[in-house]
Amino acid sequence: MTLRRMATAGLLAAVVAASTGGITASAGGPRPPATQDQSLRGLAARHGLSFGTAVDPAAYADPADPQYKTFVDKQFSTVTAENAMKWESLEPTRGTYNWAAADAFVAMAEKNHQLVRGHVLVWYSQLPGWLSTGIQDGTIDGPQLRALLKKHITDVATHFRGKIWQWDVVNEAVSDPWETPSAIHLGGNAGSLKQKFADLLGPDYLADAFRWARAADAKALLFYNDYNIDAFGDGGPGDKTQFVYNMVKKLRSQGVPIDGVGSQGHLATQYGNYDVFQVADTLQRFTDLDLAVAMTEVDARSLMKDAKDPTQDAASADLTARDQASAYNYHVLLQACLMNRHCLSFTVWGFTDKHSWIPTWFTNPPEGAGCLWDANYQPKKSLRTVQGDLAAAGPPLVLPRIPQRPRR
Ligand code: G3I
Repeated sequence: MTLRRMATAGLLAAVVAASTGGITASAGGPRPPATQDQSLRGLAARHGLSFGTAVDPAAYADPADPQYKTFVDKQFSTVTAENAMKWESLEPTRGTYNWAAADAFVAMAEKNHQLVRGHVLVWYSQLPGWLSTGIQDGTIDGPQLRALLKKHITDVATHFRGKIWQWDVVNEAVSDPWETPSAIHLGGNAGSLKQKFADLLGPDYLADAFRWARAADAKALLFYNDYNIDAFGDGGPGDKTQFVYNMVKKLRSQGVPIDGVGSQGHLATQYGNYDVFQVADTLQRFTDLDLAVAMTEVDARSLMKDAKDPTQDAASADLTARDQASAYNYHVLLQACLMNRHCLSFTVWGFTDKHSWIPTWFTNPPEGAGCLWDANYQPKKSLRTVQGDLAAAGPPLVLPRIPQRPRR
């Protein structure tokens, strides 16, 4: 063989290996890599499921931390910008957009053949200072906020048109049972920015937001996204899942172009677990409304001695128990999603404890260790559980996903 032919043959072998997910020849014939060495995106693809992560562009671009990029590129088929598409990131100064970070994120996804979950068009939090200040001090009134919101949705959805698979159009619009008043309502704690935002916009703003998003982007799937809607409670005034269910059912009955519900799935082991059927029943009730569902921000944190230093607990029996409880929470959410053919994607909110919102958010008492890989990028029980669930699932209970058509 000439040198040139040898080079071509080598290249061909590499291409074949890449396209078969790295299948290597052995004495007994070609064998796929062991399940735990396969990517999450590859394992999930068997079910037509997209497996995603939230991405922090700073970590992705950090040359001192090359593993972060490698994991994002190789493991996931869907990506969500953790912060880069939020209003404060896109329009820090009124009237001046800064698309750079979000555009770089979308370009990264295109390069990696990853679908993008757009996050987020409407959220009372992480608003630019000029806007939250105006809402708080009353210099921005209801009609002005409504006009600003319409412009924001239109500009952002237009800018990214054709590049977004699922948009979180409205995020976390309703209260929690521990807030005041305790009956779930549109808004949040009495006097909070969340409540002012809702009051200024009035009850119809969700319907309008979905209509404005659809007018700007005919093809993206439009989602309502929230946490603590994993399972129905008693159906009473403090049942957030019931409230969200009634809310999206009403939007459907009004002909509002909503395509799906995103269940964030931020779980914590100290509160106990749901079981698979509670979550599966909940997803089913949403999909019975002709909506798709997605698990959009999954993690399962635990109480820690010092969340900023996970190594402190690494050898303790306690941590093993927490890791197993965390793994069980991932398992419940993933199995419930797999069993529903309209559950289109399963996204984790960060994949390594090295870059997770949890330790900075929950400091007293400290919480952490909520991700699939630890802070040194080592696999945890949660990862192994998720890989096993994806590998072992199949007919008759787990069937390929049914694509959702964007609603007009
Ligand atoms: O941008 C500033 C930076 O300039 C400053 O130096 C730094 C110092 O603290 O703060 C930076 O802002 C932080 C921002 O993330 C960007 O990194 C904020 O302090 C921090 O509060 C903010 O946290 C984000 C949080 O949303 C805010 O609500 C988390 O990273 C992000 O993971 C989290 O994501 C949310 C979803 O969007 C919606 N669902 C819940 C989820 C978890 O809270």
